[in-house]
Parts: sequence; C-alpha cells; structure tokens
Amino acid sequence: MSVLESSLAFVVWYLFPLYVVVSLVFAIFADADMTLLWANLVGHRPERRLKHRVVWVTGASSGIGEELAYQLAQCGARLILSSRRESELQRVKRRCLECSHLQEDDIRVLPLDLLERHSHEAITQAAIQYFGHIDVLINNGGRSQRSLFLETNLEVYSALMELNFLGTVSLTKQVLPHMTERGSGTIATVSSVVGIAGAPLATGYSASKHALQGFFNSLRTELTDYPNILVSTVCPGPVQSKIVDNAFTEALHKPVPTVGSQEHKMCTRRCVRLMLVGIVNGIQEMWIAQQPFLFFYYAWQYTPTFAWFITNKLGKKRVQNFKAGLDADSAYFSKPKAS
Ligand SMILES: NC(=O)c1ccc[n+]([C@@H]2O[C@H](COP(=O)([O-])OP(=O)(O)OC[C@H]3O[C@@H](n4cnc5c(N)ncnc54)[C@H](OP(=O)(O)O)[C@@H]3O)[C@@H](O)[C@H]2O)c1
Repeated sequence: MSVLESSLAFVVWYLFPLYVVVSLVFAIFADADMTLLWANLVGHRPERRLKHRVVWVTGASSGIGEELAYQLAQCGARLILSSRRESELQRVKRRCLECSHLQEDDIRVLPLDLLERHSHEAITQAAIQYFGHIDVLINNGGRSQRSLFLETNLEVYSALMELNFLGTVSLTKQVLPHMTERGSGTIATVSSVVGIAGAPLATGYSASKHALQGFFNSLRTELTDYPNILVSTVCPGPVQSKIVDNAFTEALHKPVPTVGSQEHKMCTRRCVRLMLVGIVNGIQEMWIAQQPFLFFYYAWQYTPTFAWFITNKLGKKRVQNFKAGLDADSAYFSKPKAS
C-alpha cells in the first residue's frame, strides 16, 4: 500500500468517524450555532474587546437588556441604558456600579420610547455628546405576542411592527451615520428564532422579527465599503425574562392571563455571554438556544420539509393547550390545569 493510500485509509477509517462522533457529541450539548461556540472556545474575549467601549443598550430595564448591562459593566464598557421606565433603569445602573469597577459617570441613563420616533434624533445626539461617540448599539428593546390571529385586533399588529421593526430602524437611522462618519462601529439587533421560522400565537411578533432580519441582512450588504462596521443579528430561542408577562395579546391593552414556568428556558446569563462573544468576534448572525430548540434552526435551514412536519405537529399541540387555558410558552412541558 502506498503512502497516499494508507493516509487516505487513515482519514476514512479513523479521522472521519472521530470527526462525526465529536460533532454529534458537540451538537447534543450545543446551545448555539457552531461558529459562535468555536468563537467562545478560541475567539476574542469580551473583557478585552469591550473595555472602555461606549455601548448603548435599549430595553435595558429588564430581561436580556438588564443582563447585558451587568455583563458589559463587568467588562469595563461605558454604558448608555435606555427604555421607557427611568426608575428601573436607575435600579439597573445602581447594580451595575455594585458589580463592576465603573464610576457614576461611566453609566448614563437615557429614557427612550421606541414608539416615539420623533424623539430619536435628539436622544441620539444626547447619547453621542455624553461620551463623545458610540461604539456599539444593541437594539434589544421589544415586545412579544401571545394570541391567535383569528382573535387579534389589527391594531396589535400595527403596534408590534411600530415597536419591534420601525422603532429599531428609526434608532439605527440616527446612529448609523455617526458610525459611517467614524468608519467603525457595531449595530447588534436582537431578533429571535421566530425571525427565522414561524410559531403559533406569534404571527405579528414573528412578522416583526422577520422584517428585522430582512432589513439588517440587506443593510449589511449596503455597508461593504465599511469593513469596520459590523451589522449583527442575534436569534435567541426561549430565554428567561419578562417577555411573556409583557407580551401583546388579542387587544392592545389586555394583559397576558397566565405566565408559566421559565424552567425550560435558557439562562439569561449564558445567552448574554454568548451574545457578547459573538459581537466581539464579528459574527453577523448568531443562533442561541438550548436543545431541542437549536436542532430546529438547523432543520429549518437544511431540511425545511422535515422541519415543517415537526413544527406543525408541535404547533397544533401548542394551539390546543393555549385554547385550554394553559400558558403557551410552557405548553409543551406542563400538564393541563385541574378545573
Ligand atoms: N426572552 C426570550 O425568550 C426572547 C427570545 C428571542 C428574542 N427575544 C428578544 O429579546 C429582546 C429583549 O426581550 P426580553 O426577553 O428581555 O423581554 P423583557 O424582559 O420584557 O424586556 C423587554 C425590554 O424592552 C423594553 N421596551 C418595551 N417596550 C419599549 C418601548 N416602547 N420603548 C423602549 N423600550 C421598550 C422594556 O423596557 P420598558 O418597559 O422600561 O420600556 C424592557 O426593558 C426583545 O427584542 C425580544 O423580542 C427574547
């Protein structure tokens, strides 16, 4: 047997099966796409790359945005924290100061309503003036939906698009010229798994996140002359937060009737850590979810017919459970309520 033949045999009989086994084990325990997990293993560390950077986080008063604030503070980033509730932002600021070496002046609370687009120019100018520039904008603020299309008022759809899509685009429109002028910056936008696929009870939410995906994927292609500007979209699966408590329902001001357990959802801390790793490693699209949710991202990408077969089965069960009064988010995991 020649050297070439024996090398080939070694690759076919030993290396390839080893690669398949390692990949399978990796996939079973994976909670993000492979690029992001590799970056987490061998890539740049957020602590090094984000120190002294100016990062503007929207939706910083709760959930993912709140955790972003804490981890960014621990990385030494200077922060602009925005959302509607100033008192909650002040609470987050206090905790940031407690858990980091930042000083009072390193964190600016800047109340912002994504729906009030006329205010975005002035607020952006205030943000730029405070630190002199913005390195990273994290478009995170948003709301979800828990209602069936047939029962939902059209105004709910309008509100979802106004907030999740147009509010985000409006702020980006203000911040991006500042970044193109400087020739560098990052715009990271929190989309969702339903920005890639669909899910029952979230028709309007999913549409708003698909709109964001389409918008930022297209914007990225317009910025190829700016190699130091990163446009990144983050697609988390279910993550522990207040998203269900705050979701839109059939009518604009009707609250969600039942909020279920968060046990099956990804820990916010881990999700945010991976987001920051993705941002500092220049990853343009990140999938972050525990199994079995992550499996679906790959199924939708590579085997859509199979993915839709499973999605329709699970979707049917989810709608049935929702109609029976179960919390939709944990519908796959909980038993019907005793009447
Ligand atoms: N948790 C998940 O399972 C999950 C999965 C995929 C994607 N996401 C996305 O992650 C992002 C953060 O959500 P979360 O899970 O952290 O939910 P959350 O705990 O409800 O936080 C939502 C944040 O958005 C802010 N917000 C809501 N309406 C706003 C408005 N009109 N103007 C400005 N800010 C507003 C809220 O602050 P105020 O009330 O103070 O304004 C809050 O800080 C959202 O874009 C969501 O779609 C979440």
